[in-house]
Amino acid sequence: MARVVLLTGGTSGIGREAALRLAEGGATVLFTGRDREAGREVLSEVRRAHPESAGEFYRADFADFDAVRELAREVRADYDRLDVLVNNAGTSHSERRTTDEGVELTFAVNHLAPFLLTNLLASRLRESAPARVVTTSSALHEDGSLADLESVVRGEDFDGLDAYADSKLANVLFTVELAERLAESGVTANCVHPGWIPNTNLVRNATGFSRAFTTAASLVASIAPVGPFESVEGAADALAYLVTSEEVADASGAYFDRRERATPASAAADAGLRERLWERSAELVGLPASVPEDDPLA
Ligand SMILES: NC(=O)c1ccc[n+]([C@@H]2O[C@H](COP(=O)([O-])OP(=O)(O)OC[C@H]3O[C@@H](n4cnc5c(N)ncnc54)[C@H](OP(=O)(O)O)[C@@H]3O)[C@@H](O)[C@H]2O)c1
Repeated sequence: MARVVLLTGGTSGIGREAALRLAEGGATVLFTGRDREAGREVLSEVRRAHPESAGEFYRADFADFDAVRELAREVRADYDRLDVLVNNAGTSHSERRTTDEGVELTFAVNHLAPFLLTNLLASRLRESAPARVVTTSSALHEDGSLADLESVVRGEDFDGLDAYADSKLANVLFTVELAERLAESGVTANCVHPGWIPNTNLVRNATGFSRAFTTAASLVASIAPVGPFESVEGAADALAYLVTSEEVADASGAYFDRRERATPASAAADAGLRERLWERSAELVGLPASVPEDDPLA
């Protein structure tokens, strides 16, 4: 039976390429984004890549937690199994913006939305075990800090690049904590730095990254992926590896630099910080403090 993979942020960049790669491998690829037109385009490419495997586009803005809940409801209604959830959607902003709940947007989209989605789909993943959760973090997580969590949540003293790094650190802490909470369930949780890819919308739109640097880096990456630079294809390959490879079937709570297991920032080993982040995140999205055993929306 085809593996069912839900991939967020499949309308551009790394996610778009990964959606095609996974479809070519025979998976049923469900993917999300906000851009309907891009969604339609990617869907037809996905279906062309592997005509026998179905695919589906779901529109959802992760700044809106009700939209995340609706996405989980729809996926549950449409598919009675879920083998892999790939939390890949990500954003970066140069100016402070907040959600309706007053949460800083980068933290909401990059951390709270995948936190909510994963918890809402956890019982479906458990039922489908062996199953996987793969989250796209970034090596920039090493510059993040969640020590003053409330200030991160509210976006106080806002700096776009710092907010991005904080959200990517939250991805790592979430992964390690999720792996621990799902131990023995048959569901693994890992996160990945996909490489530094200068020619995706994320980097193009983020003013925290200098334009001269990204232009130069795009050139380098287009000639040959070297050092920290990676092509979109190489980054998608890293994601697909964590989604499908038997070599990592038993890995859980791990951080990968592309295909290689790597050591994340020391904050990932801080159990107290992980627990504080989990409990505050649950509170902010209206979930119980433990991973739900059943469908919390039923
Ligand atoms: N590029 C890099 O060098 C790099 C390095 C390390 C990590 N990453 C991570 O890789 C992941 C993919 O990034 P990318 O470089 O491929 O960027 P991208 O081309 O901008 O793709 C981002 C994806 O996320 C979706 N997205 C953005 N904001 C959203 C929102 N508010 N609600 C729902 N979906 C949203 C976008 O869809 P719509 O536009 O259709 O909404 C798009 O599909 C991110 O998590 C990023 O942090 C990237």
